[in-house]
Amino acid sequence: MQVIKKIGDLRVILGEYRKSGKRIGLVPTMGYFHEGHLSLIDAIRERVDIVVVSLFVNPAQFGPDEDLECYPRDFEQDEQMAKERGVDIIFYPDKDEIYPDPFFTYVATEDLSKVLCGTSRPIHFRGVTTIVAKLFNIVQPDIAVFGRKDAQQAIIIRKMVEDLNFPVEVVIAPIVRESDGLAMSSRNTYLSPKERKQAPIIYQSLKKAVEMVQRGEPDAGGVKHSIRQQIETAPLARIEYIEIVRERDLKPVKVIEPGTFVAVAVFFGKTRLIDNVVLK
Ligand code: PAF
Repeated sequence: MQVIKKIGDLRVILGEYRKSGKRIGLVPTMGYFHEGHLSLIDAIRERVDIVVVSLFVNPAQFGPDEDLECYPRDFEQDEQMAKERGVDIIFYPDKDEIYPDPFFTYVATEDLSKVLCGTSRPIHFRGVTTIVAKLFNIVQPDIAVFGRKDAQQAIIIRKMVEDLNFPVEVVIAPIVRESDGLAMSSRNTYLSPKERKQAPIIYQSLKKAVEMVQRGEPDAGGVKHSIRQQIETAPLARIEYIEIVRERDLKPVKVIEPGTFVAVAVFFGKTRLIDNVVLK
C-alpha cells in the first residue's frame, strides 16, 4: 500500500494503472476508521482493480463553531487498518495541496443542501460537494462509494454527479451499526458513557417507525410524533429535527409513499448524531 500526499504523484501512478486497463475505485473519507469505513472499502474492492482511499479532514465542510480542530484523527491506526483491508493507495494530502490560497471556486447542489442538516449547517454540503468534485477530478475513479448513514450527503453527491456529468458510478453502502443499533460514526467517540448508553434510543425509535408503516400507518405526522415521544424518553437527548422526506428531492411528505425515508438529528450533549431508515 502506498501513501501519497501530492496530487501530481497520484496522477502519475493512477495514469499508469489506467493505461493498463485497470478500474479505479475511490473511498472518500475523513479518517479515524471504524467498521463503517471498512465496509465501504469492502464494497468497492470487489468491483475494481485499484482501491484508493482519500483521507482528508475537509475544513470547507465545517462551520465556524463546529468540531474541525478536535475532529478525531489517528493516521497510523488508519494506515494499518487500510493495509489490512487491502487498500492499494491512501491519498493523504495537506490542506494547502487541496485548497490553494486564495481559493474561490465552490460546487453547490443548491436546494438539496438547504434542508435537513443544511438548516443548521448552512455551508456544510457546499464543502462536501466541493471536495468530492475535486477528488473526482484528481483521482478520476470509475466508481466511488459513500455510506447511507449520511443519506442527505449521498443523495446530494448522486445529484451532483448527474447534474455535472461526472463519469463516476456512485455506490451507496448500507449503514453499519453497533450491536445495540447505534449507527457507527467517528463522532460517537465524543459521547460520555451516560450519553453513549442512551444514544441507541435513536435507532429504536426509527425501527418502531418502520413497524408502524408496515402495519399500515400512512400519516407522516403520526410517525414523526411517535419517534419524538420515544427519543424524548432519553433525558440527555435533544432533538434537532425529525423529517420524513422523498428520496428523490428531499421534500417532506404528509402521506408516506414509496421512496420516502425518515431522517433525524439528535444532540447528546455537544455531540450531534444523525441516522435514517427507509420507510417504504
Ligand atoms: O462522509 C465524509 O466523511 C465526508 O463528508 C466526505 C465525503 C469524505 C467529504 O469530506
